[in-house]
Amino acid sequence: MTDTKITESIIYIGTDDKTIDLFESQYVVPNGISYNSYVIMDEKTVVMDTVDARKSKEWLKNLETALDGRDADYLVVSHMEPDHAANIAVLTEKYPNIQIVGNSKTFTMIDQFFDIDLTNRKVVVKEGDNLSVGIHTLQFFMAPMVHWPEVMVTYEQHSKILFSADGFGKFGALDTEEEWTCEARRYYFNIIGKYGTQVQALLKKTAGLDIAMICPLHGTILKENLGYYIGKYNTWSSYQPEEEGVLIAFASIHGNTAKAAYKMKDILEAKGVRKVKITDLARDDMAEAVEGAFQYSHLVLAAATYDGGLFPCMEKFLNHLRAKNYQNRDVALIENGSWAPAANKLMRAALENMKEIRICEPAVTIKSVLKADTEAAMNAMAEVFL
Ligand SMILES: Cc1cc2nc3c(=O)[nH]c(=O)nc-3n(C[C@H](O)[C@H](O)[C@H](O)COP(=O)(O)O)c2cc1C
Ligand SMILES: [Fe+2]
Ligand SMILES: [Fe+2]
Repeated sequence: MTDTKITESIIYIGTDDKTIDLFESQYVVPNGISYNSYVIMDEKTVVMDTVDARKSKEWLKNLETALDGRDADYLVVSHMEPDHAANIAVLTEKYPNIQIVGNSKTFTMIDQFFDIDLTNRKVVVKEGDNLSVGIHTLQFFMAPMVHWPEVMVTYEQHSKILFSADGFGKFGALDTEEEWTCEARRYYFNIIGKYGTQVQALLKKTAGLDIAMICPLHGTILKENLGYYIGKYNTWSSYQPEEEGVLIAFASIHGNTAKAAYKMKDILEAKGVRKVKITDLARDDMAEAVEGAFQYSHLVLAAATYDGGLFPCMEKFLNHLRAKNYQNRDVALIENGSWAPAANKLMRAALENMKEIRICEPAVTIKSVLKADTEAAMNAMAEVFL
């Protein structure tokens, strides 16, 4: 962490985590993750969220340095998930005068996670409430189910900063130089994707604010070109494809379905489709596959039949898509089977549980290995698909 000053009086005290194996026990983070936390130095001092228990020591040291001998007056709790809230008890022990600012749901969860005596320490806020701490005034907006029920965001009126909780967050530690969009998109669809309606509601609520900077709980602090990021969130949360393109996701045991999937990629590219991405569901990052499915307008699913069912990685992928509210896309199906192909029927059944999925007819059935007739069927499918 190099530059800790967000403004003259707002200091970054978060931490990078570059050794975690899987974020939320599920997501690979090749460039780590950051747990962002901030301090506002004014007549009163305000700590904006804590960090994961993995980084308590480093965070407490950052806090102490930032406070420079002063007491911590307030802690604002935007989100009770342990990657941000793990140090609430530790903080109240170290700074016994601290007041905790949250909404009614926040305090229910604090009681569930901790045994802290909150007598005279609770500041319960609701939609639109203000808390003045000097020249800075915090205004609270509830963001229920983005992606937990107690989530709220804070708009600081003096510096025009939106403290956006997990919204606008991304994977990747702060010392990583990488493009925002890919890792922010992978984060969004896998972690918040199910709650598009709630994100839309939050975007509408905050649309009238004059926002100069967005400070999320993970990843890059957004200081410029905010329309770009807000635009992406608007597209993502409304389940619109971000761009015309195709994700081909295949589940292959011995490689023949994989060959068909790569053939489909060639066919689509020969037809002039500029964006064709392919993913091996048995080996590639599942979260990246989910991201790709949401990013593009079209999806091709190619799966081997396995013990009368779907090869498990395809089943898993479809479960993930359904759990994240995958919808409003065009989907083409390629199945493979050597004696009783069933993948088409099963993929179709899984897609029926999702909204506005348009299946390209007819599906293609390969019986073991791609032959001239099945290749012709894939060509015909590509014609009607796009
Ligand atoms: C363990 C195993 C189970 C299979 N179960 C079925 C099945 O239930 N029905 C079927 O038609 N084919 C079944 N197959 C055959 C494959 O679906 C078929 O050979 C297909 O071509 C495999 O494509 P791949 O080379 O992409 O793995 C099975 C294959 C394996 C290895
Ligand atoms: Fe979270
Ligand atoms: Fe988080």
